[in-house]
Amino acid sequence: MSFSRAEAFAPATVANLGVGFDILGLALQGLGDRAIVEFRDEPEIVIADIQGDGGQLPREPEQNVASVSARAFLDHIGEKRGLKIELIKGLPLSSGLGSSAASAVVAVLALNKLVGEPFTREELLPFCLEGEALVSGYHADNVAPCLLGGIVLVAGITLDAIQPLPVPANMHIALVTPDFPVPTNEARAILPGQVPLASMIHQTGRVAQLVDALHRGDLEALGAAMEGDAVIEPARACLTPSLDEVRSAAKQAGAIAVFIGGAGPTLCAVCNSAEIARRAAAAMECVYSEAKMDCVAQYTQVDRRGAMVLRAE
Ligand code: HSE
Repeated sequence: MSFSRAEAFAPATVANLGVGFDILGLALQGLGDRAIVEFRDEPEIVIADIQGDGGQLPREPEQNVASVSARAFLDHIGEKRGLKIELIKGLPLSSGLGSSAASAVVAVLALNKLVGEPFTREELLPFCLEGEALVSGYHADNVAPCLLGGIVLVAGITLDAIQPLPVPANMHIALVTPDFPVPTNEARAILPGQVPLASMIHQTGRVAQLVDALHRGDLEALGAAMEGDAVIEPARACLTPSLDEVRSAAKQAGAIAVFIGGAGPTLCAVCNSAEIARRAAAAMECVYSEAKMDCVAQYTQVDRRGAMVLRAE
């Protein structure tokens, strides 16, 4: 059954989980973007409105992540009609919360509904990746958990490389997002082009420990593995002011581990109860307040549902 108008929601995500650069990500409950899509008779895609971006996102369809993803979908199915897209951004831009992935996913999921859901969620990944690539290249560690929910291993960008991982029942996450952007492409440009063999051995060992810890539901081991990043965090620490102070404050409040969300600057604290996550969020906020930096602190859990269609008519 096809529709003339569809609205969807896509959750925030955090990528990397410390050691899993470009291969691990998780979805977050509560935070996210919405999009409303409608067919138009003319062949072009039009970004009719964007709310919540402070006027910063491009309205030109060939430069906007949502419309580029939607264009990949329309071309693939041979659809000649164009599209009107309204985007309601709940996620801050360049914050490490997967804003561009959410824009891509929310438009493609609504569009899939509009044409009668010919594709599974997993099959929507390549279209979403086209939009995400516009901002920061082909990596699926935000797009995959955004689409599917949960914690996801993306060992590559093809469908057979996506593996959902277990989510520990008592895993809570505190987040602090300082009020300045870190564009993903800049945070990627700062990374080393090559790593020594010893670093590679260390890093792959920690990723293996992380996956094992998820399977055993062992948050302490998970946290130790997350914080074992010897490659990415050291290179990006200069983009994330007060990282050490925030980590220390969160741990004093009871958090198990702190890692940089995606390219940052959001910092994520893994906790084993909602009360500790609440305290960790407050402690992390306090560090930025004392440094006279605006920030948003919150606490949540892993979203297990992924993006969803809200309505279609
Ligand atoms: N894996 C990507 C990076 C995620 O860290 O650059 C960007 O959100």
